[in-house]
Amino acid sequence: MDETDFSWRRWRRFFALRSDRPSPTLLDDESRMRAVPSSVARSLAIFQLGESGGGTVIEQARNSRICEIDDDYAEAMALFVAEEHRHAELLACCVRALRGELIRKNWTARLFVCGRRLIGLRLKVMVLLAAEVVGICYYHLLSARLPESGMRKLLQEIVEDEKAHLKFHCCFLRTQAHTGLQRIIFLIVWRVLMFAAAVVVLIDHRAALRDLAIPVNVVWKRWMVYSRTAENLVIQDNIRAMRSVAVR
Ligand SMILES: [Fe+2]
Ligand SMILES: [Fe+2]
Repeated sequence: MDETDFSWRRWRRFFALRSDRPSPTLLDDESRMRAVPSSVARSLAIFQLGESGGGTVIEQARNSRICEIDDDYAEAMALFVAEEHRHAELLACCVRALRGELIRKNWTARLFVCGRRLIGLRLKVMVLLAAEVVGICYYHLLSARLPESGMRKLLQEIVEDEKAHLKFHCCFLRTQAHTGLQRIIFLIVWRVLMFAAAVVVLIDHRAALRDLAIPVNVVWKRWMVYSRTAENLVIQDNIRAMRSVAVR
């Protein structure tokens, strides 16, 4: 995508071009994957549940009166949600390959859904953005600890998708942060949201982090780096900041 053109039509086309990627298959050697701790399967099952929702945000984008968005934005949002559902499929493959079980309920997933339901489109997109930051870092760290495998590649593919999602949400939020006051409000809400998201994920996924020997401070630092990147994309009219999150 051309970094100098962030029109919603471009985003719609960007997501549409990726929409017919094939369904995932995993042909990993079972004996190698057996060495992966069972806590990883549970952790991925929680993320799988979190990637499965998102229908209401499409409706909200379609019915929104925010003047900076249009039908192309709503369609891009629908394609984005479809991409998240593909992630749910990919993660379901990973969970099954690790002989784990998919789940239907989880307190962090419920918190995330409540956050998305309570609020208007702007705040909803901020919740989605926090999920992207969490996902980018978490999937990346997890994949780096897995043996060379198809599962590792699937997780890396999700990381690249999440980077594009981060950029998409930042483009929207930037259109909503023109004035100094709007930027200050964004910063306060964003930092509180991001802090809360990071804490609940650390609590809920502590077993997998421990079993994979991923230090909490490493995860935290990565989240903060990406959180600041997202901040810069929203509050600074900075093309270089956009380029720092490579979209392939
Ligand atoms: Fe995702
Ligand atoms: Fe995403």
